[in-house]
Amino acid sequence: MCGIVGILGREPVAPSLIEALRRLEYRGYDSAGVATLEDGRLTRQRASGKLRNLEEKLAGAPLKGTIGIGHTRWATHGRPNEINAHPHANENVAVVHNGIIENFRELREELTKKGHVFVTQTDSEAVAHLVADFMREGATPQTAVASTLTRLKGAFALVFLFDGQDDLLIGARRGSPLAVGFGDGGAYLGSDALALAPFAREITYLEEDDWVVLTREKATFHNAAGNIVERPKRPLQAGSLMVDKGHFRHYMAKEMHEQPEVVGRTLAHYLDLASGTVRLPFELGFDAKALSRVTISACGTAFYAGLLARYWLERFARLSVDIDIASEFRYRESPLPEKGLMIVVSQSGETADTLAALRYARLQGQHILSIVNVETSTIARESDTVAHTLAGPEIGVASTKAFTCQLAVFACLALALGKARGVLSEKQERALVAELIATPGLMAEVLKDEARVEPVARDVARATSVLYLGRGPSYPLALEGALKLKELSYIHAEGYAAGELKHGPIALIDFAMPVIVLAPHDASLEKTVSNLQEVAARGGHLILVGPQSAKTAAAVELAGFIEMPETAAGPFAALVYALPAQLLAYHVAVFMGKDVDQPRNLAKSVTVE
Ligand code: M6R
Repeated sequence: MCGIVGILGREPVAPSLIEALRRLEYRGYDSAGVATLEDGRLTRQRASGKLRNLEEKLAGAPLKGTIGIGHTRWATHGRPNEINAHPHANENVAVVHNGIIENFRELREELTKKGHVFVTQTDSEAVAHLVADFMREGATPQTAVASTLTRLKGAFALVFLFDGQDDLLIGARRGSPLAVGFGDGGAYLGSDALALAPFAREITYLEEDDWVVLTREKATFHNAAGNIVERPKRPLQAGSLMVDKGHFRHYMAKEMHEQPEVVGRTLAHYLDLASGTVRLPFELGFDAKALSRVTISACGTAFYAGLLARYWLERFARLSVDIDIASEFRYRESPLPEKGLMIVVSQSGETADTLAALRYARLQGQHILSIVNVETSTIARESDTVAHTLAGPEIGVASTKAFTCQLAVFACLALALGKARGVLSEKQERALVAELIATPGLMAEVLKDEARVEPVARDVARATSVLYLGRGPSYPLALEGALKLKELSYIHAEGYAAGELKHGPIALIDFAMPVIVLAPHDASLEKTVSNLQEVAARGGHLILVGPQSAKTAAAVELAGFIEMPETAAGPFAALVYALPAQLLAYHVAVFMGKDVDQPRNLAKSVTVE
């Protein structure tokens, strides 16, 4: 959730720390801070709010040290003010922390009794005092950190900077990611490859419970038992560098417009475009014919991708699907079938609940297939099979291109399983692949006509509550559309299965609440048209997202119409219809002057429970 970085450089490191923090700001932006050593002494600057506030402070009072650590915060314990901003420091050590120290209250009590004075409401401050406590009793920085780690409960990544030690940083991970980078300018520690991309050519990920002693020349990795261990170096992927906004106003805008390209790239990875058939880049690793059921778990938008995929897996592979949000699934103690298949979905590959769901399924002997965007993430590393979404780095907090790439992977997987289980004939496979191959072109068509979304957005921006309706695969899209709108514009929104309308939500219908109906030209269009008429009959404020034929068939008065291509990828229409839902939420937020890329209270990567 928070972003952490450490640099052992040869020049003053504050500007590089800021650059790395800018790349990590997607993880949280409640406050930011850096600490360096000046003449061997710890100095720090912190500011509440976004990174630019810290930059302004540093412009007035620069930090000159050639070693330092930095942090961008997503608050868990304590208000997002300057006092609670990291790094937390005392006369011995400064620390930056991502995650949660579960036993911080006990530690705080114990250390207060020993004379340590706490000045923040954070869990993280206890870590700084604990290290200092061991050092006051004569421990070296290394032994103090090793002893501290044995006392901490929870999930965390930590980086320590020590007073008087200008060639030493120590990093540690348990549950939250941390990587070491090596480059010409020095040695680096950071929450992810994205942060280290401008500086390092190679990186090494710490494994669970590892801690590392880093100097300018060398990284020494230790496991939980304190033994020195080797960890492999990997070259940094070129994709990690592509994080500018291009000519777009927001990352989200750029990422929405990248979708035809990245969905095309993802499809090309899982299909044989020349023969028009499915060709997965990995062996399934399980007996598809013997499968009785598939379990899927994920959070947020990734969960909706799974919910949508259920329609494809059931229809094309004749597999029943059990799907739940990861924060529920992890505690349900669901009995899973012997040698079953568990699919977890995550853009970041670091979402704590999804990781816990994966680990539960692992204990139940499931084959774990993950659909992830960050290939080097913890979820990817703990999976048996990784199905990579080739979306590239997604910076906007609202997930857009990762979602459609997840759908693309799921669609290919459903067809591959259908084929492997003998459900799909070759003819059916080719026909379905042809529909999939058409999706990037249709997406481009929708994006070209973005302007028509604007008047509808202006109308929706006046609402205090919005209802999204859809049937079949458009039902999860209705949920996703509502999520996008609330997270970006803070307007209350709900998604409903169109058929459920008369079982309750119809009572909400009035002239003021927009009802956005997602109505692709599919088998259920006729029924969706009936729902449009039910809303119209009650004087509802109808907005139709669909082809001209749906509008003609409904023959009702519309407050808004986002016209879609007449034939939009058959059973895979959701890949195309995701775009108007994203564009609408984006334009409503822009129109309302909201912070599109960094909505309030959210973080891109949710590595706490
Ligand atoms: O990184 P993940 O895909 O595991 O993240 C899951 C959710 O936190 C994420 O999709 C969230 O709902 C987005 N902000 C939605 O736009």
